[in-house]
Order: sequence, then C-alpha cells, then structure tokens
Amino acid sequence: MKIGIIGGTGVYALHHLTDVKEIEIETPYGSVFPSLGFFEGKEVVFLPRHGKGHSVPPHRVNYRAIVYGLKAWGAEYVFSTAACGSLRKDFKPGDLIVLSSFIDFTKGRVSTFFEGGEEGVVHTDVTEPYCLPMRKIIYDTGLNLGIPVHPSGVYVCFEGPRFETPAEIKACQILGGDLVGMTNVPEVVLAKEAGLHYSTIAISTNYAAGISSTPLSHEEVLEVMESAGKSVTTLIMESIKRLTYSVLDCNCSKNRVILPGLKHGSHQVK
Ligand code: HPA
Repeated sequence: MKIGIIGGTGVYALHHLTDVKEIEIETPYGSVFPSLGFFEGKEVVFLPRHGKGHSVPPHRVNYRAIVYGLKAWGAEYVFSTAACGSLRKDFKPGDLIVLSSFIDFTKGRVSTFFEGGEEGVVHTDVTEPYCLPMRKIIYDTGLNLGIPVHPSGVYVCFEGPRFETPAEIKACQILGGDLVGMTNVPEVVLAKEAGLHYSTIAISTNYAAGISSTPLSHEEVLEVMESAGKSVTTLIMESIKRLTYSVLDCNCSKNRVILPGLKHGSHQVK
C-alpha cells in the first residue's frame, strides 16, 4: 500500500518514517521533491505543500504537480492537513476537524488536469469530495487515542494570501461554511480527478476575522500549529495503521484515473 501525506502550514516534516530518502518525481507541471520512507510496512511519501521552509504562498502552490506527482509515484491514499480559521465557536483554536465538503471562492487557480483538446473535457463528480472510509478511520482513530476530532466540517477556500474581511466571514457563515482557508481547493478537486482516496484534517488555528477580537496574523497560526502539529501527525500515522484495502469501499478510485501523459507503471521517480 502506498500513501501520500501533504503537510500544510506547521507540518513540515514527519519523524515517523524509516529508511527515509529524498526523491524527485517529474510531472508535466514541474518536479516535486518529497521524502520517501516506510511506516508499518507501508510506503509513505511526505510533501510539505508550501515547500521547505514555507516559501510558497497559497496562491502559488503548484497543486497540479503535487497531486500528479503523488499519483505518478503510485499513491492510492492521500492524507493532507490544512490550517484554518474557524467560523464556529465550537471549533476552538487547536481543534481538529475532518473535512466533509467545500465551497470554492478561489479566483486565479487552474483547478483541473483536463484542459480540453487531446486531454478531453472532464466534469468530475464531487458529491463526496473527501474519501468517506478514510474520514471514518480518522475520526475513529481520534476517539481511540483520546484526540478530540470533529467528524465533519465545510471548508471555504479563499484565494489569499490576505485574510478575509469580517463581511466575507459573515457571508460564509450564512452560506453554511464552518472553516476558512486558502489551500484545499484545487487540491481536493485534483485528487478527485486523479482517482485518489483523499482526506483532509483541518486544524482550527484562530477564530476568523470579525469573530476573533484581535487582528489576525500568520504568527498566531504558527503558534497554534506548534502544539496541534503533533496531534495531527499522530492522528495520521495511527490512521495509517488502520488503513487496509478491506475497509475502503467507496467510489474515489472509480473516478477518472488516466491523467494526461501519465503512463501507468512508469513512476517517473528519480
Ligand atoms: N483565514 C484563511 N486561512 C487561514 C486562516 C484564516 O483565518 N487561519 C489559518 N489559515
């Protein structure tokens, strides 16, 4: 079983892997450079979304290279993390939430592998954007470990890199959003197109603009991630232990799985 982990803000390394080496995976969108290692007999690659040292802002992340790279390497299951602002009083800073749906307010991002022409026109079903069995495993693992996890949450993705206005946050609440962030779209959509089992653990790092009594800052986000980062990686690794093919009965991999230019069996890994 091959598993990908995409680390968001505050999750820049995984110390649980053995025999770790740095690899390069070439994609039509540029190369990605994950760490490859082993955990409980499973092959795992870890990729920090914002690059080493958090040098890539949300609107410039090469989402297609990341998702294509994981698929080309052979990942079937992908866990990701996302630092978020909370729209709900009961999603307190430090809380973990397994995402269940999203609303997309991004503006300038390519959110498909299929650009028409030879690549075809593809309209991907996102009725269930995040893998339901993975969500259940993460939630159950949290219960088992005594790490409190909320079982569902609607993520609203903004373009960033600025934080939202209080008016935008109020609009999101009216629309049914629970959390705001800047990275989960198009990542989740591309993972769906690629036929990956994909799940996201959101970390509430702050009350969103206008709910918080103080101005927002990236430092505040990083501070909360200092302590929440360990819980989220523990939750992922313990969930990986429970991941077996038999528990994963869902439609994720029944989506389109032939990405443009991807020859199956050739991993394009250096
Ligand atoms: N808004 C958008 N993205 C975020 C926030 C927020 O309040 N906190 C952490 N990531």
